[in-house]
Amino acid sequence: MSEYSVNRATFDEVMVPNYAPQAMIPVRGKGSRIWDQEGHEYIDFAGGIAVNALGHCHPQLVKALKEQSEKLWHLSNVYTNEPALALAHRLTEISFAEKVFFCNSGTEANEAAFKLVRKYAFDHTGPEKHEIISFKSSFHGRSLFAVTVGGQPKYCEGYAPVPAGVTHLPYNDLEALKAAISDKTCAVVLEPIQGEGGVIPAETEFLKGVRALCDEHNALLVYDEVQTGVGRTGEFYAYMATGVTPDILTTAKSLGGGFPIGAMLTTDKVAKSFGFGSHGSTYGGNPLACAVALEAINLIHNDQVLANVSSKHELFRSELERINKTYGIFKEVRGRGLLIGAELTEDWHGKAKDFLAAAAKEGLMMLVAGPNVLRMAPSLIIPDEDIREGMAALERAVAKVVNQ
Ligand SMILES: Cc1ncc(COP(=O)(O)O)c(C=O)c1O
Repeated sequence: MSEYSVNRATFDEVMVPNYAPQAMIPVRGKGSRIWDQEGHEYIDFAGGIAVNALGHCHPQLVKALKEQSEKLWHLSNVYTNEPALALAHRLTEISFAEKVFFCNSGTEANEAAFKLVRKYAFDHTGPEKHEIISFKSSFHGRSLFAVTVGGQPKYCEGYAPVPAGVTHLPYNDLEALKAAISDKTCAVVLEPIQGEGGVIPAETEFLKGVRALCDEHNALLVYDEVQTGVGRTGEFYAYMATGVTPDILTTAKSLGGGFPIGAMLTTDKVAKSFGFGSHGSTYGGNPLACAVALEAINLIHNDQVLANVSSKHELFRSELERINKTYGIFKEVRGRGLLIGAELTEDWHGKAKDFLAAAAKEGLMMLVAGPNVLRMAPSLIIPDEDIREGMAALERAVAKVVNQ
């Protein structure tokens, strides 16, 4: 099949209409640049929604994939395999975790976590300890359990009945948690920075308070680091900056650098509740995915790469502030590392998508986080000149939207 035999209209003909992709179709990527069917070039600040942590087609990831593709593709979990074991081993070296469960996406990692917290409470206390506390505006994926735990009711609309026993509290509000948590709570689930919810960081004091309340009520603390993990915030995992360690951490997106993989990390004690036959996945721990992910994390778990994430954050911030001096469209620039949100002022509320579309026309791929926030989650190794070039494109786009 030639790549020119399909176009954007084909999408509307043959794809379920749950997405509304941009008009152009990317066909090739290198580093932080993308080319579409027409040969137009784009700077990529979207990073496949915080996935392409090493840009597109990083030579060492391509090499790892090619080498593994000539050895072994798939086995199922009836057998284990070397790349999965090596990756799990490395993840336990890098993080608090002592045990790893592999799957294929962030949603699946969360599904595993949400089932495990209930099973752990069931094993240690009993079925009455099944309540999960999560936070408004959070996002944990699109399975029925994940949209239920997620704090955005629109994703549950039309799918009732959803699993019971989930409460949503205001984020960063320790008093609300103090009032709601009880000995029936089996887990508190949170993103250290709410990504889809608008790039909203948790306050360190809040996280410390959550940990203490979980301990007091014998509830597990689950960090969804699907978006914040694997170097995105300038630490390998965001939890590492705060001195608060979760009992379960979910990771996906950047973990495979673009190859689908997810993982749930936990302690020996908690992992015991996922005994033989309690949960599973045909593809989880797939050798191709694990070989690529091992290469990706070895490249990212590097002091220089992580330090650069923080310095590139400063460049993003100063460029956004420069644009804002001229146009005054941003109320706040926030986030950590290379997960950056620029919230529009009230005048521009609801218009984030207009800026996204204008940026695409100027050769820049970006993201939004809800209707009021422009979001950037580029490659962790995006060159500074690509940042500057992308920001020049954003400035042209902002000028067009503001002056139209
Ligand atoms: C924090 C968080 N959790 C879970 C998910 C779901 O991950 P996936 O789309 O890989 O299933 C996302 C995706 O955006 C996310 O940002």
